[in-house]
Amino acid sequence: MTDSPLRVAVIIGSTRAGRAGAEIGAWFAEHAARRDDLAVDVLDLAGYAFPSSYPERATPSMSRFTAAIGAADAFAVVTPEYNRSFPASLKQAVDYGYDEWRAKPVGFVAYGSGSTGFYAVEQLRTVFGALHAVTMCDWVGIDLLRNEIGGTGRPCDTDDVLRSVAAVLDQLSWWGRALRAARSAQPYVS
Ligand SMILES: Cc1cc2nc3c(=O)[nH]c(=O)nc-3n(C[C@H](O)[C@H](O)[C@H](O)COP(=O)(O)O)c2cc1C
Repeated sequence: MTDSPLRVAVIIGSTRAGRAGAEIGAWFAEHAARRDDLAVDVLDLAGYAFPSSYPERATPSMSRFTAAIGAADAFAVVTPEYNRSFPASLKQAVDYGYDEWRAKPVGFVAYGSGSTGFYAVEQLRTVFGALHAVTMCDWVGIDLLRNEIGGTGRPCDTDDVLRSVAAVLDQLSWWGRALRAARSAQPYVS
């Protein structure tokens, strides 16, 4: 395996006006960027002017997004829970890629109001399974109602939260390196 930093894309899945997701994504990306084994890129879905319906040909914003996921070795998907699932904005973007996701690891940072985003994560595992991606067992779960958000809108760095952040990053790093080496030794099955 090479020692070059693993390119991790932190994908902010909510595009809702007034969303909590931007600060939560920035907080997680800052933790990831403190590690010298990872090179972090933030892909904020609110920054892509995606089309309102799936077009016949990829638009420039779709191509910019798929190029960014193609360049990444691993993903951290930051998702709220909406009605026991994940938001449509995230599904729209995930469905723009296929080869770009394959044989790469995906970790989750989930949050909700009253839940920690369990249903969103479990449903995303099914989606990423269809894309031949590997989902990380541990995940970060934040309940916005349980005082886990500080005044800045960022989660409080409690011991439990930091343990889950470290677990997700450790797993992404291990799987990311293993799969990067495997993809370079042999193309993933078609
Ligand atoms: C349409 C909608 C559905 C929601 N459903 C749930 C839910 O099922 N479980 C939950 O814990 N919180 C739910 N919430 C609360 C959100 O998790 C909370 O508003 C969070 O801030 C949304 O993320 P965002 O601000 O980044 O968009 C829902 C919020 C919205 C807008």
